Amino acid sequence: MLEINICVGTACHLMGAYNVIHEFQEIIEENKLHDRLSVNASFCMQHCGDGVSVRLREEKFNLVPGSCREFFNANIVPQLDKVR
Ligand code: FES
Repeated sequence: MLEINICVGTACHLMGAYNVIHEFQEIIEENKLHDRLSVNASFCMQHCGDGVSVRLREEKFNLVPGSCREFFNANIVPQLDKVR
């Protein structure tokens, strides 16, 4: 199972963390990935910046609402084949 951890700390909340969570939930639903990809809310990752902090494995990213599909295609799809 691949996990996407999304910060819901104050700064990230204000930048749209719940919209980002919702976008990933839609992507999981559309692609029927429930058994391979999960979305989890997380406390502050000490990576507050220009967007919502997202951790995928050990890597941290900052996403803005509306950018999740692009992120999914670039960073998650290549890893899905390795996940069962
Ligand atoms: S509030 Fe999200 S990384 Fe700090």
